[in-house]
Amino acid sequence: MEIYEFGQRLIREAGDFIRLRMKKDFRIDAKLNPNDLVTDVDRETETYIYDRILEKYPDHRIIGEEGHGTDIEDTEGVLWIVDPIDGTLNFVHQLQNFAVSIGVYVDGRPHCGMILDVMNDHLYHAKSGEGAFKDDIRLTPLEDTDLAHSLVSLNSNWVVREGIGQAFTKVVREARSTRSYGSAALDMAFTATGIVSATLFYRLHPWDYSAGMIIISEVGGRTTNLLGEEIDVLKKDSILAGNQAIHGELVGYFDSDASFIESHRRTHGEK
Ligand code: IPD
Ligand code: CA
Ligand code: CA
Repeated sequence: MEIYEFGQRLIREAGDFIRLRMKKDFRIDAKLNPNDLVTDVDRETETYIYDRILEKYPDHRIIGEEGHGTDIEDTEGVLWIVDPIDGTLNFVHQLQNFAVSIGVYVDGRPHCGMILDVMNDHLYHAKSGEGAFKDDIRLTPLEDTDLAHSLVSLNSNWVVREGIGQAFTKVVREARSTRSYGSAALDMAFTATGIVSATLFYRLHPWDYSAGMIIISEVGGRTTNLLGEEIDVLKKDSILAGNQAIHGELVGYFDSDASFIESHRRTHGEK
Protein backbone atom coordinates (compact mmCIF):
# COMPACT_ATOMS: atom_id res chain seq x y z
CA MET A 1 0.00 0.00 0.00
CA GLU A 2 1.24 3.44 -0.89
CA ILE A 3 2.07 6.05 1.76
CA TYR A 4 -0.88 8.22 0.66
CA GLU A 5 -3.45 5.40 0.97
CA PHE A 6 -1.93 4.22 4.24
CA GLY A 7 -1.99 7.80 5.59
CA GLN A 8 -5.68 8.19 4.77
CA ARG A 9 -6.52 4.91 6.45
CA LEU A 10 -4.38 5.83 9.47
CA ILE A 11 -5.91 9.27 9.97
CA ARG A 12 -9.42 7.76 9.82
CA GLU A 13 -8.32 5.21 12.45
CA ALA A 14 -6.96 8.06 14.59
CA GLY A 15 -10.38 9.75 14.29
CA ASP A 16 -12.08 6.53 15.49
CA PHE A 17 -9.58 6.34 18.35
CA ILE A 18 -10.34 9.93 19.46
CA ARG A 19 -14.13 9.58 19.20
CA LEU A 20 -14.02 6.50 21.40
CA ARG A 21 -11.42 7.82 23.85
CA MET A 22 -13.17 11.13 24.44
CA LYS A 23 -16.19 9.33 25.90
CA LYS A 24 -14.05 8.47 28.92
CA ASP A 25 -12.47 10.94 31.35
CA PHE A 26 -9.28 12.63 30.29
CA ARG A 27 -6.77 14.87 32.04
CA ILE A 28 -6.18 18.44 30.91
CA ASP A 29 -2.78 20.09 31.55
CA ALA A 30 -1.40 23.53 30.75
CA LYS A 31 1.81 23.67 28.72
CA LEU A 32 3.61 27.02 28.23
CA ASN A 33 0.77 29.19 29.58
CA PRO A 34 -2.69 28.65 31.14
CA ASN A 35 -4.37 28.89 27.72
CA ASP A 36 -2.01 26.45 26.05
CA LEU A 37 -3.68 23.14 26.88
CA VAL A 38 -2.91 19.53 26.20
CA THR A 39 -4.94 16.46 27.15
CA ASP A 40 -4.31 12.75 27.54
CA VAL A 41 -6.18 12.33 24.28
CA ASP A 42 -3.65 14.50 22.40
CA ARG A 43 -0.75 12.46 23.76
CA GLU A 44 -2.36 9.05 23.31
CA THR A 45 -3.45 9.85 19.75
CA GLU A 46 0.05 10.96 18.80
CA THR A 47 1.50 7.74 20.24
CA TYR A 48 -1.11 5.70 18.37
CA ILE A 49 -0.19 7.38 15.06
CA TYR A 50 3.55 7.16 15.78
CA ASP A 51 3.41 3.43 16.58
CA ARG A 52 1.30 2.62 13.52
CA ILE A 53 3.66 4.46 11.14
CA LEU A 54 6.79 2.80 12.54
CA GLU A 55 5.16 -0.62 12.56
CA LYS A 56 4.48 -0.23 8.83
CA TYR A 57 7.56 1.81 7.84
CA PRO A 58 10.36 1.35 10.41
CA ASP A 59 12.74 3.68 8.53
CA HIS A 60 10.38 6.66 8.28
CA ARG A 61 10.77 9.63 10.64
CA ILE A 62 8.02 11.40 12.56
CA ILE A 63 7.70 14.84 14.11
CA GLY A 64 4.71 15.25 16.41
CA GLU A 65 3.53 18.19 18.46
CA GLU A 66 3.41 16.19 21.68
CA GLY A 67 7.09 15.30 21.80
CA HIS A 68 8.04 12.89 19.06
CA GLY A 69 10.96 13.76 16.79
CA THR A 70 12.25 16.77 18.70
CA ASP A 71 15.78 15.86 17.51
CA ILE A 72 14.89 15.96 13.78
CA GLU A 73 16.71 18.79 12.02
CA ASP A 74 16.63 17.81 8.36
CA THR A 75 14.08 16.55 5.84
CA GLU A 76 15.96 13.56 4.45
CA GLY A 77 13.93 10.45 3.65
CA VAL A 78 10.25 10.18 4.48
CA LEU A 79 9.14 12.63 7.15
CA TRP A 80 5.68 12.55 8.72
CA ILE A 81 4.57 15.75 10.49
CA VAL A 82 1.71 15.09 12.88
CA ASP A 83 -0.68 17.18 14.92
CA PRO A 84 -2.80 14.62 16.81
CA ILE A 85 -5.41 17.22 17.80
CA ASP A 86 -5.33 20.62 16.15
CA GLY A 87 -7.75 22.84 18.01
CA THR A 88 -7.23 21.49 21.52
CA LEU A 89 -9.11 24.46 23.02
CA ASN A 90 -12.12 23.55 20.87
CA PHE A 91 -11.69 19.92 21.89
CA VAL A 92 -11.72 20.88 25.60
CA HIS A 93 -14.50 23.49 25.43
CA GLN A 94 -16.71 22.23 22.61
CA LEU A 95 -15.84 18.58 21.95
CA GLN A 96 -16.03 19.51 18.28
CA ASN A 97 -14.31 21.66 15.64
CA PHE A 98 -10.89 20.02 15.95
CA ALA A 99 -8.80 18.04 13.50
CA VAL A 100 -6.01 15.54 13.06
CA SER A 101 -3.39 16.87 10.65
CA ILE A 102 -0.70 14.82 8.89
CA GLY A 103 1.72 16.10 6.26
CA VAL A 104 4.24 13.81 4.56
CA TYR A 105 7.44 15.08 2.91
CA VAL A 106 9.89 12.97 0.92
CA ASP A 107 13.43 14.34 0.79
CA GLY A 108 12.02 17.77 1.64
CA ARG A 109 9.42 17.72 -1.13
CA PRO A 110 5.69 17.74 -0.34
CA HIS A 111 4.24 14.26 -0.88
CA CYS A 112 0.75 14.19 0.61
CA GLY A 113 -1.38 15.95 3.20
CA MET A 114 -4.42 14.87 5.22
CA ILE A 115 -6.68 16.80 7.57
CA LEU A 116 -9.54 15.01 9.32
CA ASP A 117 -12.39 17.10 10.71
CA VAL A 118 -12.95 14.53 13.43
CA MET A 119 -16.53 15.11 14.61
CA ASN A 120 -17.92 15.85 11.15
CA ASP A 121 -15.88 12.94 9.79
CA HIS A 122 -14.68 14.80 6.71
CA LEU A 123 -11.25 14.06 5.30
CA TYR A 124 -9.46 16.74 3.28
CA HIS A 125 -6.55 15.19 1.43
CA ALA A 126 -4.15 15.62 -1.46
CA LYS A 127 -1.16 13.99 -3.08
CA SER A 128 1.24 16.33 -4.86
CA GLY A 129 0.41 16.55 -8.55
CA GLU A 130 -2.83 14.58 -8.25
CA GLY A 131 -5.34 17.16 -7.00
CA ALA A 132 -7.13 17.61 -3.69
CA PHE A 133 -10.28 16.02 -2.29
CA LYS A 134 -12.87 16.37 0.43
CA ASP A 135 -13.69 12.71 1.08
CA ASP A 136 -14.30 11.36 -2.45
CA ILE A 137 -15.15 14.72 -4.04
CA ARG A 138 -12.41 16.43 -6.03
CA LEU A 139 -11.93 20.08 -5.04
CA THR A 140 -12.10 22.61 -7.84
CA PRO A 141 -9.27 25.08 -8.52
CA LEU A 142 -9.52 28.26 -6.43
CA GLU A 143 -10.89 31.33 -8.12
CA ASP A 144 -9.19 34.68 -7.62
CA THR A 145 -10.97 37.04 -5.24
CA ASP A 146 -10.18 40.43 -3.74
CA LEU A 147 -10.22 41.23 -0.03
CA ALA A 148 -13.22 43.55 -0.22
CA HIS A 149 -15.40 40.67 -1.47
CA SER A 150 -13.88 37.90 0.66
CA LEU A 151 -14.20 36.15 3.97
CA VAL A 152 -10.80 35.62 5.57
CA SER A 153 -10.03 33.63 8.67
CA LEU A 154 -7.80 35.07 11.36
CA ASN A 155 -7.47 34.90 15.11
CA SER A 156 -8.42 38.15 16.87
CA ASN A 157 -5.49 37.73 19.31
CA TRP A 158 -3.18 39.06 16.63
CA VAL A 159 -5.30 42.15 16.02
CA VAL A 160 -4.73 43.42 19.56
CA ARG A 161 -1.02 42.52 19.74
CA GLU A 162 1.38 45.45 19.97
CA GLY A 163 3.65 45.97 16.96
CA ILE A 164 1.69 43.71 14.63
CA GLY A 165 -1.94 44.60 15.42
CA GLN A 166 -2.02 47.60 13.11
CA ALA A 167 -1.42 45.55 9.96
CA PHE A 168 -4.00 42.93 10.98
CA THR A 169 -6.52 45.70 11.83
CA LYS A 170 -6.29 47.07 8.30
CA VAL A 171 -7.03 43.62 6.91
CA VAL A 172 -10.07 43.29 9.20
CA ARG A 173 -11.35 46.72 8.06
CA GLU A 174 -10.97 45.98 4.35
CA ALA A 175 -12.28 42.41 4.33
CA ARG A 176 -15.94 41.65 3.69
CA SER A 177 -15.74 39.87 7.04
CA THR A 178 -13.53 37.60 9.14
CA ARG A 179 -13.98 34.15 10.63
CA SER A 180 -12.12 32.34 13.37
CA TYR A 181 -12.43 28.56 13.52
CA GLY A 182 -9.90 27.74 16.25
CA SER A 183 -8.04 25.07 14.32
CA ALA A 184 -5.35 26.16 11.90
CA ALA A 185 -5.60 22.89 10.00
CA LEU A 186 -9.34 23.39 9.50
CA ASP A 187 -8.75 27.04 8.52
CA MET A 188 -6.41 25.76 5.83
CA ALA A 189 -8.83 23.02 4.72
CA PHE A 190 -11.59 25.64 4.46
CA THR A 191 -9.25 27.82 2.41
CA ALA A 192 -8.68 24.89 0.05
CA THR A 193 -12.43 24.46 -0.45
CA GLY A 194 -12.88 28.23 -0.98
CA ILE A 195 -15.37 28.75 1.87
CA VAL A 196 -12.85 31.29 3.13
CA SER A 197 -10.60 32.96 0.58
CA ALA A 198 -7.53 33.25 2.79
CA THR A 199 -6.25 32.42 6.24
CA LEU A 200 -3.62 34.34 8.22
CA PHE A 201 -1.55 33.49 11.28
CA TYR A 202 1.29 35.25 13.01
CA ARG A 203 2.86 32.08 14.40
CA LEU A 204 2.32 28.46 13.46
CA HIS A 205 4.33 25.27 13.85
CA PRO A 206 5.05 22.77 11.07
CA TRP A 207 2.41 20.36 12.44
CA ASP A 208 -0.24 23.10 12.15
CA TYR A 209 0.37 23.96 8.49
CA SER A 210 2.30 21.16 6.72
CA ALA A 211 -0.74 19.18 5.53
CA GLY A 212 -2.79 22.29 4.71
CA MET A 213 -0.02 23.73 2.56
CA ILE A 214 0.00 20.65 0.34
CA ILE A 215 -3.79 20.57 -0.02
CA ILE A 216 -3.96 24.31 -0.84
CA SER A 217 -1.21 24.01 -3.42
CA GLU A 218 -3.19 21.24 -5.18
CA VAL A 219 -6.11 23.62 -5.78
CA GLY A 220 -3.77 26.28 -7.17
CA GLY A 221 -3.54 28.36 -3.98
CA ARG A 222 -0.41 29.86 -2.49
CA THR A 223 1.10 29.59 1.00
CA THR A 224 3.98 31.75 2.23
CA ASN A 225 4.66 33.68 5.39
CA LEU A 226 2.94 37.06 5.87
CA LEU A 227 5.87 38.80 4.19
CA GLY A 228 5.48 36.65 1.09
CA GLU A 229 8.56 34.52 1.86
CA GLU A 230 8.73 30.77 1.25
CA ILE A 231 8.09 28.42 4.17
CA ASP A 232 10.74 26.07 5.54
CA VAL A 233 8.68 23.09 6.69
CA LEU A 234 10.88 22.44 9.74
CA LYS A 235 10.38 25.94 11.14
CA LYS A 236 7.80 28.03 12.98
CA ASP A 237 6.67 30.95 10.87
CA SER A 238 3.74 33.21 10.12
CA ILE A 239 1.40 31.79 7.50
CA LEU A 240 -0.63 33.39 4.73
CA ALA A 241 -2.58 31.03 2.49
CA GLY A 242 -5.19 31.80 -0.10
CA ASN A 243 -6.05 32.05 -3.75
CA GLN A 244 -3.34 33.69 -5.88
CA ALA A 245 -4.96 37.12 -6.14
CA ILE A 246 -5.89 37.65 -2.50
CA HIS A 247 -2.55 36.22 -1.40
CA GLY A 248 -0.71 38.90 -3.40
CA GLU A 249 -3.05 41.61 -2.13
CA LEU A 250 -2.66 40.55 1.52
CA VAL A 251 1.15 40.42 1.43
CA GLY A 252 0.95 44.15 0.64
CA TYR A 253 -0.62 44.86 4.04
CA PHE A 254 2.32 43.31 5.88
CA ASP A 255 5.43 43.94 3.79
CA SER A 256 4.70 47.67 3.66
CA ASP A 257 4.43 48.07 7.46
CA ALA A 258 7.82 48.80 9.08
CA SER A 259 6.71 48.01 12.62
CA PHE A 260 5.19 44.70 11.47
CA ILE A 261 8.39 43.75 9.63
CA GLU A 262 10.49 44.57 12.69
CA SER A 263 8.30 42.47 15.00
CA HIS A 264 8.24 39.65 12.48
CA ARG A 265 12.04 39.63 12.19
CA ARG A 266 12.29 39.62 16.00
CA THR A 267 9.91 36.68 16.29
CA HIS A 268 10.94 34.61 13.27
CA GLY A 269 14.40 35.92 12.31
CA GLU A 270 15.76 36.96 8.91
CA LYS A 271 15.19 34.78 5.85
C1 IPD B 1 -3.51 25.70 17.64
C2 IPD B 1 -4.68 25.91 16.71
C3 IPD B 1 -5.10 27.36 16.67
C4 IPD B 1 -3.94 28.26 16.28
C5 IPD B 1 -2.79 28.04 17.25
C6 IPD B 1 -2.37 26.58 17.24
P1 IPD B 1 -3.30 23.32 18.86
O1 IPD B 1 -3.08 24.35 17.62
O2 IPD B 1 -4.36 25.50 15.40
O3 IPD B 1 -6.12 27.55 15.72
O4 IPD B 1 -4.36 29.60 16.33
O5 IPD B 1 -1.70 28.85 16.86
O6 IPD B 1 -1.30 26.39 18.15
O7 IPD B 1 -2.45 23.79 19.99
O8 IPD B 1 -4.73 23.30 19.18
O9 IPD B 1 -2.79 22.04 18.27
CA1 CA C 1 -1.93 22.69 16.21
CA1 CA D 1 -2.17 19.98 18.77
